[in-house]
Amino acid sequence: MQPYQEFLDEIIIPEDVLKSKVKELGEQISRDYEGQDLLLVCILRGGIYFLIDLSRHITVPHNIDFMAVTSYGVGVRESRGRARITLDLTTDISSRNVLLVEDIVDSGHTLAAVIELLRSRRPNSLKTCLLLDKTSRREVYVPVDYLGFQIPDKFVFGYGLDMDEYYRNLPFIGSVNIEKYVPPEPPYIYNA
Ligand code: IMP
Ligand code: MG
Repeated sequence: MQPYQEFLDEIIIPEDVLKSKVKELGEQISRDYEGQDLLLVCILRGGIYFLIDLSRHITVPHNIDFMAVTSYGVGVRESRGRARITLDLTTDISSRNVLLVEDIVDSGHTLAAVIELLRSRRPNSLKTCLLLDKTSRREVYVPVDYLGFQIPDKFVFGYGLDMDEYYRNLPFIGSVNIEKYVPPEPPYIYNA
């Protein structure tokens, strides 16, 4: 795989800005859920870096659980309305206060599908905490309760977000210059 420096267009959210926003969100969530039950649900894989950093700033005792949703595969950059649950929660969420933690909402199809499924299990409350929102691309409504940043309609990577399943570990959010990006050779590490 290429070093990211070859296709990085610009760093749109630097590491220190991300860190202080995640801390701020954690503090806000701690105030809002004070004295209440709280379960953080992370949507794999993009949400894990955000969830872990956020969880460290939440002072209310809470649990974490994970689910995975496939919206599109390697080489495809839009979800086109199809979202499939590939890994389900192991926690019973009935009567729980669930906070869904996700890296980005783009068309909204992925999150809308997860919300519909989780609502059917009758949680006491269900809220969302999103790091990034590409509002201009929304096709279906999703509630946004906590938000890190609104971003322009650019494909981004880093801090959990991938380019064909790579570069999630980078500590900043960068945008891609797609002309300079070389996709991975098959076989891919992951098939949707
Ligand atoms: P949606 O269903 O269109 O809202 O897409 C949401 C999912 O697409 C997210 O959970 C991400 O996995 C992925 N996604 C959307 N935009 C980007 C991006 O700019 N970079 C990396 N992944 C993205
Ligand atoms: Mg992805």
